[in-house]
Amino acid sequence: MRRLHEHLIEDRRDEVAILRIEREEALGALSRSLVESIGSYFEALRDDPAVRVLLLTGTGKGFIAGADIGEYHAVSSDEFDSYQRLSRRVFSTLESLPQITIAAVNGYALGGGFEVALCCDLVVAAERARFGLPEIKLGLLPGGGGTQRLARAAGIRFATEAVLTGRFIDADELRASGVVSRVHPAGELMDRAIELAEEIAGRPPMAVAEAKHVLRTGLEGGLEDGLTIEQQALSRLFGTADAAEGINAFLNKREPRFVGR
Ligand code: HXC
Repeated sequence: MRRLHEHLIEDRRDEVAILRIEREEALGALSRSLVESIGSYFEALRDDPAVRVLLLTGTGKGFIAGADIGEYHAVSSDEFDSYQRLSRRVFSTLESLPQITIAAVNGYALGGGFEVALCCDLVVAAERARFGLPEIKLGLLPGGGGTQRLARAAGIRFATEAVLTGRFIDADELRASGVVSRVHPAGELMDRAIELAEEIAGRPPMAVAEAKHVLRTGLEGGLEDGLTIEQQALSRLFGTADAAEGINAFLNKREPRFVGR
């Protein structure tokens, strides 16, 4: 276990890294220094081939309750803009990590917390988790990509209602709208999330990387563009040692041993 900040620790289980925000007393609110530490961690992780899956979680009933309102209520517009730019950069770094990223949302994921989850490849949640973009209630708007990423993930109407009302949305509702993929009792969340992470970490690395690339970039253009991206990725994979191994293992009724090339 490594402590990266007063409120941030990392744990490793083989190829799975678990990044935990430990600020239960403020429900995981993101101070500037915490965002900076999380950003430095992501920058280092980008070049760390030992980690295949990143699990992000919080503590107690707080995943991340958004920006630290106590810290930001009295800052100048320049300081506020600087925080916004920092958050945007850190969230985009998370979104573009080569690893598979999973948000294990244990409790409140509000404002920046929901935005962090929306940057991850997968979101799994505790039954008690509550998501929302409540910035409108503060006379503000989501500034860490919430309007754009929620609209892309759940549709423009769903996002419009969430942004305009700022209401809290429970895990089951977000599962129905496709943002959350699995919902578990709070006491089981981490065990189930680690199982999922380990399952993915056990899949052939190049196929996982290509699948992430296709799923991410394919939706940026039209269907024909996406189909081309998919086909090219599959062609690249077909020549790999892991594809040969996977097919051979299936035909010989044995477990495959993937080597990552
Ligand atoms: C700082 C926060 C916080 C936050 C909670 N706390 N959210 N501190 N920043 N975002 C603190 C509370 O002040 C309190 O501290 C402790 O955490 C527990 O919170 P309670 O409110 O007592 O708990 P509860 O009654 O269960 O309500 C939980 C809650 C509520 C519904 C999540 O805390 C809440 O609405 N929080 C604000 C959520 C929010 O608006 N997030 C910001 C989104 S805007 P004490 O010391 O009193 O025990 C954003 C964009 C930028 O992210 C905005 C810039 C200003």
